Amino acid sequence: MTQPQLQFSQMANLSTRSDVPPFYVMEVMRAAEQLESQGRTVLHLEVGQPSTAAPAGALQSVAALLGTDRLGYTGAAGLPALRQRISQWYLDRYQTDVGVEQIVVTTGASGSFVLTFLALFDAGHRVAVFEPGYPCYRNDLSALGISTVPIPLGPENDYRPSLDDLNASLPLDGLIVASPSNPTGTIIPEDQMWDLILWCRENDVALIVDEIYHGITYGEPPPSALGLLENEEKTGGPPLVVINSFSKYFSMTGWRVGWVATDQAVAARIERLAQSLTIAPPTVSQHCALAAFDCTDELEANVDRYRENRLIILQGLASAGFDRNAPADGGFYVWSDVSHLGIDSQQLAARWLEEIGVAATPGIDFDVRRGGDFIRFSYAGSADELDTACERLAHWISDEV
Ligand SMILES: Cc1ncc(COP(=O)(O)O)c(C=O)c1O
Repeated sequence: MTQPQLQFSQMANLSTRSDVPPFYVMEVMRAAEQLESQGRTVLHLEVGQPSTAAPAGALQSVAALLGTDRLGYTGAAGLPALRQRISQWYLDRYQTDVGVEQIVVTTGASGSFVLTFLALFDAGHRVAVFEPGYPCYRNDLSALGISTVPIPLGPENDYRPSLDDLNASLPLDGLIVASPSNPTGTIIPEDQMWDLILWCRENDVALIVDEIYHGITYGEPPPSALGLLENEEKTGGPPLVVINSFSKYFSMTGWRVGWVATDQAVAARIERLAQSLTIAPPTVSQHCALAAFDCTDELEANVDRYRENRLIILQGLASAGFDRNAPADGGFYVWSDVSHLGIDSQQLAARWLEEIGVAATPGIDFDVRRGGDFIRFSYAGSADELDTACERLAHWISDEV
């Protein structure tokens, strides 16, 4: 007798909080992979990840460990040597004293989000996020039963938040800021970041600053939000949590290591949650991350390439008529207004992929309301790829519009 096919979705009582929207860039990547499996060539301007591997020196040091180290669990807060090295990094890079007990190593910045949200917020709390902004903030918050309060940003204020907008969104329990931002590349200057910190203190709002694109900036490097606070009196007040990762500057997306830096009390809560939720971040990846700190030349060469790519893409996009772009001060993205084409960006991205083999991310990922008018282009790939993609886009526009 044949067994009846199980219909899982009908059998299970599925939670409403798992009903989060897809991260659309992953869908574009899947469609691109499908085309590639049919022998088509795709130019990848959709992916938000370095095209380089982890630095060579770090890979060598991990290779040596594989035969000699048991690579068992580390403590939930991470390898002591790695926490120490991150602490040293704050001292060297930002002249900021962040103690080892203030640092928790996590499974990528993504792992930090869940732990931080759980440590700071209860279901029903209200947390503000900027639109356009990184979609996983709102998806994670929503899965945890926390309400997101979107605050729209636009070209009128160079995609930077104003205190008026924040005041209008009160009451709030938390605020998430990314600087540099994904997708706009906007950096919040030091004085404005300080205003945000003060505003959060005055209004008893926990502040989470995502600094994952630190190190990939093209002007004066921004200070860490933790450093700003350190220079001022910091007793009491709502938590300030800085999140960072080895995925971008350190070129280690798939290794899944990030970290949280905050005050000791919050770090201890996060560590306790991590004990149950993940036990520990991947050990081999933590060793790789530790060694990556000694690979500055290679990492800076990557940033030099992004700097050149940024000029190539801004020029190439302008030639194709895409000249209404967000600042692109840091990271490796251009957030481009495509509304003049009169085609919804999801359709546009699908057509570009199919018709000219250019993969780009529709804005809906980052801005639920106005995303149909925007495309995010990533320039993390090679200069040749960008040149060719911009040429194809320019031809497509001249043929179609
Ligand atoms: C702003 C921002 N934060 C966090 C992440 C996730 O990083 P991780 O790979 O460390 O989980 C990304 C990934 O693209 C990002 O753009």
